[in-house]
Amino acid sequence: MKRNPKRPIWLADDGLTVEVIDQRQLPHKLEILQLTTVDQVIEAIVEMVVRGAPLIGVTGAYGIMLAAATAADKAALKTEAARIKAARPTAVNLAWAVEQTLSAALQHPQGARQVAAAREEAGRIAEQEAENCRLIGLHGARLIQQVSRAKEGAAVNILTHCNAGWLACIEYGTATAPIYVAHQQGIKVHVWVDETRPLNQGARLTAWELGRQKVAHTLIVDNAGGHLMQHGMVDMVIVGTDRTTAAGDVANKIGTYLKALAAHDNHVPFYVALPSSTFDWQLQDGLSRIPIEERDPDEVRFVQGLAGGRIEKVLVSPQDCPAANFAFDVTPARLVTGLITERGICRPDAAEIAGLFPDKADRAS
Ligand code: MRU
Repeated sequence: MKRNPKRPIWLADDGLTVEVIDQRQLPHKLEILQLTTVDQVIEAIVEMVVRGAPLIGVTGAYGIMLAAATAADKAALKTEAARIKAARPTAVNLAWAVEQTLSAALQHPQGARQVAAAREEAGRIAEQEAENCRLIGLHGARLIQQVSRAKEGAAVNILTHCNAGWLACIEYGTATAPIYVAHQQGIKVHVWVDETRPLNQGARLTAWELGRQKVAHTLIVDNAGGHLMQHGMVDMVIVGTDRTTAAGDVANKIGTYLKALAAHDNHVPFYVALPSSTFDWQLQDGLSRIPIEERDPDEVRFVQGLAGGRIEKVLVSPQDCPAANFAFDVTPARLVTGLITERGICRPDAAEIAGLFPDKADRAS
């Protein structure tokens, strides 16, 4: 089957090999990795070969398919599911997609039918995520159109953090989807790309995506956003999220909260784009309840880049400098202007979110 070049994950023709873009190598090298075991799936998620909330969800779902192919019985399959879910704690998509796929697989006796059921469910989730991102693009583009009209066609300056593009999702992206739609409609857009230390998903991935789509963009250091907002150089912020509570608190890549504070102080609208799989319907208070992943401090001490034609890591701090690596932070709902979802745009409060998603909110205990 011909692969879609704007998808970061697909199934090989054998139906049992999961192929992914190795995002650690971008933008310098486009390398495809094959995942054929649960351990490889877990490693790919932990090491961020694949990353971004919707994508780790779909990768985990395919992990259940691989687990079903080897697990001795249903108990063993459940144990594998628990291992996959533990690979990264903050993005709720992972646990959600693994649970969905596990429950589809468990409807069948162990064997080929169980594997087929998991494959089908993982594929269904992937297609649904792609479609949801397409719809997010259409809804979010309306916001960009409004700003463009108010500026009489002058470029709309959008700031984004981390990578919430097609690399992080299955297609289109969340935060980038409205930008791509507006760009295709001929609206002038310009994106301020936060580099997003420590792993530089903005500099490496968002800049790469936008460049390939020919969307005007400028890379900035993480601390530049406040200055740009004070000088009227940002019309709106659009970011993605790894987990948003039923009351609208938003967990996203570390540094998002500081952007929201600066946006609030400067009356810059701050939007969060997300598919329904990123809502945690069980949680209200994000600050105390969303688990924040802490990663290897070496990711802070070192930076990776191209040196002499090879991808190298270099030490930027003193050798044994103590470092802390909190991967996410929580932006309280009060700092968020709106949530852009596949069903439309709402304010980040429990009643409005439940109004858009009565079917999901009803099921929350
Ligand atoms: O650590 P990462 O790269 O997985 O973090 C990703 C983000 O923070 C994204 O903004 C988030 O997953 C939304 S992606 C649509």
